[in-house]
Amino acid sequence: MKITGVSGSPRKDSNTDTLINTVLNSAAENGAETQLFRINDLSIKPCQSCYYCKENGVCKYQDDYVEIVKAIDESDVFVVGSPIYFSEVTAQLKTFIDRFYSIVNNQGINTKLVLVYVQANPDETLYKPYIEAQSNMLGNIGFEVIDIIHGYGIPEIENLEENKEFLEKAKEIGANL
Ligand SMILES: Cc1cc2nc3c(=O)[nH]c(=O)nc-3n(C[C@H](O)[C@H](O)[C@H](O)COP(=O)(O)O)c2cc1C
Repeated sequence: MKITGVSGSPRKDSNTDTLINTVLNSAAENGAETQLFRINDLSIKPCQSCYYCKENGVCKYQDDYVEIVKAIDESDVFVVGSPIYFSEVTAQLKTFIDRFYSIVNNQGINTKLVLVYVQANPDETLYKPYIEAQSNMLGNIGFEVIDIIHGYGIPEIENLEENKEFLEKAKEIGANL
């Protein structure tokens, strides 16, 4: 089994990275082959709305996006996560997701998907509609959303370690892939 993780957090070893890596490491214990991409460390141009992909089936911009989406396409499971920044995913992850327009305009994708969100606010319900909308949108593109890890009340890494439920959920998901 192949699993590709993508983190939209700019912070290395962040809460998002930790939750994604917990899924990946737990699956690796059962023999899965895993890799993690950190968008902040890569070069990914925002979608230019040039519609080149509509005519050619691939994105015109052959930057780091191409390698990641190839890895996702070849994977059984894609684990993608972001902290919530001003009620949305980070600009890094949004930039990456907008490039999925080239998936819509070519052969499509059907990789299983685990979504990961982390927020400082302790109210679990606050961004639920946003998370649901994003999950539906990714499902419409072709991904099969199999689970969502949503950590709330987590401003810093210590809070993640104290709130074991989120790490345990990530571990369990990884073990069951
Ligand atoms: C620019 C910025 C905006 C943020 N906006 C929100 C927000 O709207 N709601 C919230 O609950 N937390 C917000 N946070 C807090 C982060 O979501 C939280 O600290 C998260 O755990 C960081 O995840 P990371 O360690 O993976 O980077 C914001 C943090 C930053 C830096």
